[in-house]
This record gives sequence, structure tokens and C-alpha cells, in this order.
Amino acid sequence: MVTFWGPDFSALRREDPEIAEVISGELERQRGGLQLIASENFTSPAVLAAMGSTLTNKYAEGYPGRRYYGGCAEVDRAEELAIERAKELFGAEHANVQPHSGSAANMAAYAALVQPGDTVLAMDLPHGGHLTHGSKVNFSGKWFHPVGYRVRRDTELIDYDEVRDLAQAHRPKLIVCGATAYPRLIDFRAFRDIADEVGAYLMVDAAHFIGLVAGRAVPSPVPYADVVSCTTHKVLRGPRGGMILCRENLAARIDKAVFPFTQGGPLMHAVAAKAVALREASSPGFQGYAQQVVRNSQALAAGLAAEGMRPVSGGTDTHLALVDLRDLGVSGREAEERCDRARITLNKNAIPYDPEKPTTASGIRVGSPCVTTQGMREGEMRQIAGLIAAAVRADPASVAGAGSLRDAAEEVAALVGRFPAYPIAEVFS
Ligand SMILES: Cc1ncc(COP(=O)(O)O)c(C=O)c1O
Repeated sequence: MVTFWGPDFSALRREDPEIAEVISGELERQRGGLQLIASENFTSPAVLAAMGSTLTNKYAEGYPGRRYYGGCAEVDRAEELAIERAKELFGAEHANVQPHSGSAANMAAYAALVQPGDTVLAMDLPHGGHLTHGSKVNFSGKWFHPVGYRVRRDTELIDYDEVRDLAQAHRPKLIVCGATAYPRLIDFRAFRDIADEVGAYLMVDAAHFIGLVAGRAVPSPVPYADVVSCTTHKVLRGPRGGMILCRENLAARIDKAVFPFTQGGPLMHAVAAKAVALREASSPGFQGYAQQVVRNSQALAAGLAAEGMRPVSGGTDTHLALVDLRDLGVSGREAEERCDRARITLNKNAIPYDPEKPTTASGIRVGSPCVTTQGMREGEMRQIAGLIAAAVRADPASVAGAGSLRDAAEEVAALVGRFPAYPIAEVFS
């Protein structure tokens, strides 16, 4: 009896060699270089199996036990397991595991908490906030009235006095914290107090660091926030997707805001894969992983500082560091391109009060989730800092620079050869 019909790569190669080539090329790219994008990770084969399963075929609009379609008994169980595991792992009263992405989770959270035209106080994009927190090119900035808070110029830390002043001046209905490029811990209690002072909801967008919360490597926002939104594919190491945790009193509003307000049928293969990832994240091994992620990013930041690249705010408490390259006279864009030639994938990033436009940027963002999944530790982080420094300093237009980039690429290949991502990759090829 066939009980599992999993990804059959040889069938794909036969049926669609072009897409098969893309998939094996991308696997080779992921395995062949250093992946330092702070929002990426390598999912387990078990998560990939759930993602590649026949659950993708099932329509299941609604929620377990309350579906608009028949035949949902099996997928109901998958969603119930994901919900139970999320509630247990994060100590949350309610979990919605259906958002298709972090942005979809944020849209649903806004829909549940505020009305068009309401004021929302959130971190400015150039200071580390996310597009969905109030950017003019996003629903959040078009349909709501965003007010932005920043980091202090001297410490590059969130300016809680400014947050309080802005909250009192603008009386927002919603205050949002949680960022995309902020390397430090956020004081959730301070945000809770400010929200209470002005009668606002507090939403924590934990997209980046929810995996560190799962692994008990950073404090949890759950006791402080009315709503916690997140992605499942960053440090948490699950499938690409989103999730919302909230208090019981908001459960019905959140569920209605996800379906039917912002989404249709859930991606049941992704929901099942979220359940798998949440089980993995509940293990003691995952706690060791999350703590090593933080130690590795601290070692990487310290290594980069020793090479003359200044970590914004002086370091990091999380999985990512933001690095100011102005002392080297190299832009973020140039650094990203040079590192790419050395098979080091990272992204240019604006630094607070950046004089450059975002497409040029004065900094880079580096993260440790992928390399930690590969088993690397502090010693390798020091080596990687040296490799980044060599690549960033190498002008590819000069003969010497091009040579340094080739040397760095060779060293990267040797390093990832010792710590392969997906060591059983032959199985897929
Ligand atoms: C803080 C934050 N919120 C939301 C998102 C959006 O997630 P997604 O790309 O899954 O829509 C991101 C993505 O990086 C993020 O950093």
C-alpha cells in the first residue's frame, strides 16, 4: 500500500528538465557557498517531505472542524497538531498557522486590530522596520496613518523616550515593534507600558527572531504582546510561511482576519510542514542550535569589527549583525557584489541615518542561521569574518583584487565542503 507519495526528482527530470535543472542548480548554489542572509535557513528533510506532499492538493477553507469543503479529516489533524505545538512551544493562548507568509500575517493582524485611517506607530524602515509596518509603497502605509520611531544617533538603540513622546503626541491605535535589521534585544515590557499609557494594542512582529524565542535564546514577546506575528522560515527553520499568536480575547478576530478577510484556502502542505518544524523546534537540540546561532553571530560581528568593519550598536544579541562599511570606503552594494564573487551570499543594508540611498547603502547585514545549521561554530565565524574582509577590500577591476576574490572563493569552497548543507544531497540528485 502506498502511504506516502513524496517528491520524485527523477520524474521531474523526465517531465520538465528545465525546472529540474533550476532546482538542482539552486541546491548546488546553496551547498557551494556561504549563506549569510539573516532571514534564510536550511529546512530539514522532514520539513521538505511535508512541503512536497499531496497535502498541496486539498482545499480546506475554514478551520479544523469548521471547513467549507468535505474530506478534511486528515488535514484537520495536521492543522490541529501545528496549532497545539505552537501554543505549547510559545505558551500562547491562541495560534493561527494559516498565513501564507510574514507579510500576510501582518496584513491580517492589522485587519484584526485597526481600521483604515487609524494611526500606527512602528519602527521607520531605514532604521530596521519592515515594509509591512507602514511603508508608503505597502498596504500598511497606504491604508493606515504610519508614524515612525527611530534608533538614537549615539547608541543606535531604539529610543524608548522618543517612542513614548510619539505615542503621547499621536495616540496610535496600534504600536508595532520587531524589525528586519535590528541586532539587539527589544524591551517588550517598555513597549507594553507605552501601549497601555495611550490605550493602544501592542503587536510584536517576531518574524526574524521567533526561532530564537523557540530555542529560549532570547526573551519571549508572548507575555507582553496582544498579537505576535511571525514567519516560520527564518531561524525557526520551517517552511516558507507565517503564523500569528495572540490572546484568547482576540482569537476570533485574528482567525476572521486571516480567513476569509485576507486569504482563501490554506496551503495545507505548508501547514503540515509548520507542524513538523514546530516539533523540531521543541527539542532540546533546537535550544542548543538557537544559542549557538547567537554565539556565532556575536563571533562574526567581533571578527568583522577586528577587520575594521563597525557593527552597528557595537555588536549583536541575536542572529544578525548590521555592519557599517564607511571606514573602508566601500558601499553596501559593492560589498554585496564582491562577496558574491567569493561565493559569500549576504545583503547590502541601510544603516541608521544612512547618507546613501537604499540601493547603494553604507552597510551589509550578516546572519548566522544557515552556517549554524551546517554545524559551524565560533572558530569558523572568525575565518568567515576574514573571508568577508578580504572580499570587501578586493577591487574586482584590479588584477590583485580579482586574484583575492578567486582565493577567497576557493577557501569558501573548502570550508563548506567540511560543513555541507544537505549532506545527503545525492539522494535528491
Ligand atoms: C520583520 C519582518 N516582518 C515581516 C516580514 C515578511 O515576511 P515574508 O517575506 O514572509 O512576507 C519580514 C521578512 O523578511 C520581516 O523581516
